Amino acid sequence: MLKHITETTEYLVNKGFDKPEIGIVLGTGLGKLIDDIEIIAEVHYNNIPHFPLATVEFHTGKLVYGMLAGKKVIVMQGRFHLYEGYDFIDITYPIRIMHKLGIKNLLVSNAAGAINLDYKKGDIMIIDDHINLQGGSPLAFKGVSQFGERFADMSAPYDAEMIAKVEEIAADKNIKIQKGVYASVVGPQLETRAEYRMLKIIGADAVGMSTVPEVIVANHLNVPCLAVSVLTDECDPENLAPVNIAEIIEIAGQTEPKMITLFSELIKTL
Ligand code: HPA
Repeated sequence: MLKHITETTEYLVNKGFDKPEIGIVLGTGLGKLIDDIEIIAEVHYNNIPHFPLATVEFHTGKLVYGMLAGKKVIVMQGRFHLYEGYDFIDITYPIRIMHKLGIKNLLVSNAAGAINLDYKKGDIMIIDDHINLQGGSPLAFKGVSQFGERFADMSAPYDAEMIAKVEEIAADKNIKIQKGVYASVVGPQLETRAEYRMLKIIGADAVGMSTVPEVIVANHLNVPCLAVSVLTDECDPENLAPVNIAEIIEIAGQTEPKMITLFSELIKTL
């Protein structure tokens, strides 16, 4: 893996990805942050050596480098999911590349369902802890200790300082914000009513199909993380309507401007 990481990184440096300070992963329906970036370089995932091939059609699938709020950022517009058939190593490979390029912080977004029914669709939830229900780990491979401690600490995977800053920004900008525990599942099927009941019992406030593997790898590499969920549906097991993916994407898009404000204002302070 080390040789691949070197080759991918060299390719991107040659394309102009020059010492990014902040890495950003944009989730489903949350790609518009790109419009605020003064783009210096961009490459489609399919052209990057050793990158997984982009599949899901509502993801544009490119890596963008440029300036945002006065900082050099590298942005994944669209991420890789286990449900597309990739493994844990594939979906976290871009995090290793961003780390190798030199990022000092990682900001992550996703669309998620609200398990905590005090939280409503269209709310933004800061993730302050997670539950990995994906049945595996991105650190379970031979040679992981070349990258860091195998038994990686997960006592505080989300950076308290960045969380406090986002809370301050939200208060300042009058953006309603929630905070809670994100549970990651494989998908792509949505959950049954019994599964939503279980998620509530075990302490999840939101559920989605991403983020946790990326955050585990970033922690392993000592990159501080901030992650937010855009809540796109309310997972009430007693009144469960059939899922509507088009609506989930629409709600994500409507909520996106608030997320963009939080990220841009946070980046100014980093
Ligand atoms: N479950 C899993 N993933 C999701 C959901 C959900 O209810 N909503 C958006 N992503």
